[in-house]
Amino acid sequence: MPAQRRGLSRYVTKKLFIQTFGCQMNEYDSSRIADQLRDTLGMSRTDDPEQADLLLLNTCSVREKAQEKVFSQLGRWRELKQERPDLLIGVGGCVASQEGESILQRAPFVDLVFGPQTLHRLPDMLRRRQADVPVVDISFPELEKFKKLPAQHSARVSAYVSIMEGCSKYCTFCVVPYTRGEEFSRPFDDVLAEAVDLAQQGVREITLLGQNVNAYQGVMHDGVRADFALLLRYLHEIDGIERIRYTTSHPLDFNQNLIDVYADLPKLVSHLHLPVQSGSDQILRAMKRRYTAQDYLLLVEQLRAKRPQLSLSSDFIVGYPGETDDDFADTMALIEKVGFDQSYSFVYSPRPGTPASELKDDVPPEVKQRRLGILQQRIKAMSMQYSAAMVGSKQRVLVDRVAKKGGGLLSGRCDNNRVVNFSAPAGILGKFVDVLITESLPNSLRGRLLQEEVNAPVATAAG
Ligand code: SAM
Ligand code: F3S
Repeated sequence: MPAQRRGLSRYVTKKLFIQTFGCQMNEYDSSRIADQLRDTLGMSRTDDPEQADLLLLNTCSVREKAQEKVFSQLGRWRELKQERPDLLIGVGGCVASQEGESILQRAPFVDLVFGPQTLHRLPDMLRRRQADVPVVDISFPELEKFKKLPAQHSARVSAYVSIMEGCSKYCTFCVVPYTRGEEFSRPFDDVLAEAVDLAQQGVREITLLGQNVNAYQGVMHDGVRADFALLLRYLHEIDGIERIRYTTSHPLDFNQNLIDVYADLPKLVSHLHLPVQSGSDQILRAMKRRYTAQDYLLLVEQLRAKRPQLSLSSDFIVGYPGETDDDFADTMALIEKVGFDQSYSFVYSPRPGTPASELKDDVPPEVKQRRLGILQQRIKAMSMQYSAAMVGSKQRVLVDRVAKKGGGLLSGRCDNNRVVNFSAPAGILGKFVDVLITESLPNSLRGRLLQEEVNAPVATAAG
């Protein structure tokens, strides 16, 4: 047994439960935590907190509601710990990073507090916890996490690959630069090696992750920094990887190289999540987004010139301090011009420590809610129109699971990220197939299997 594991042998065969709040980045971090505790301590993951020996909460503080959930969840876990005093509880993620030691004041029964950049230190923190003193480590050791985490084992055909961390844009409303730290990129060759490894495990689709993936500046073996477009070109050459997605990108970091790849790289999907936040120049300036509505529209035009079928989704904030009816009308006008097929839209909430939190939160809650309703309704209508227009078309679908609603249906995603459910033999899980879209429903599509792919490598498993 390795030395590191010997001292921690009391954790072997123990069970881990992780509750994740927030974005895909947090989902990815949670799966890496589980990989690491499995590889170093032999812990296995359970879906039942009552069965667990270690409960971890991977938190999000980007919006108010996400943060509120943390302490109510901890309250429920406190009761479990009263019944089983040996149970360990850890809090990680952005709330942990922001609150640090003060989590222990509000919830003294918590044993571990770790940040997004110290999750790889969990085995060591558990060892230190044996001394019966809570352990807090929310530092920002750049790149250490990527070097220390074990190789990813994907049991699915689709996998996330984190390529950069943090953000240095400092939009006035956003906590991310304070909770995840400044931008730093993983070395170029490390990202390629991980993608090759995943392809060899049977992964067919990768989603590149980062707070601002297109700010990527990874050092290559010769010391030169590669931009995101170059990384995409190299990833495109990997045998077995048939589809490439990424999230999230920032309009400011779209250079000509990145626009050009949309003409050259067919494996890059025709769907882009491109947060705009607002269509009002005055609000964009106040948010420190550093582009105008016109800049955004021009970028969309350039991208669609290279990839006419490109579908776009976006993030919006309504009710930012000072947002008038005219500002909101500008946002709605931008929505009409772009034609989004999905959105993540939120009412503004002041986040502690951000510049915007010092401004008066002067848009009344009912006005915020009304604007949010109007915006969401419009984008929902656009989205349904978009789905309806797909009926009758043939789509390439990566079949990645049994449909949630059952009924013997399988489920997969089209190039544009729409979920399509259809009847097919289970043997096609993990493969690309052609599907005729027969019906559009509010949250998914129905289809009919046309043809399986020919000569395609079969994935080890599909989750
Ligand atoms: N990198 C992305 C970008 O370029 O905009 C942002 C990622 S941010 C973590 C996720 C989304 O949360 C933002 O796009 C924004 O719409 C929303 N968000 C962030 N701070 C917020 C706040 N204080 N109130 C409401 N929504 C917020
Ligand atoms: Fe947040 Fe702006 Fe960065 S929204 S993640 S500070 S681009």
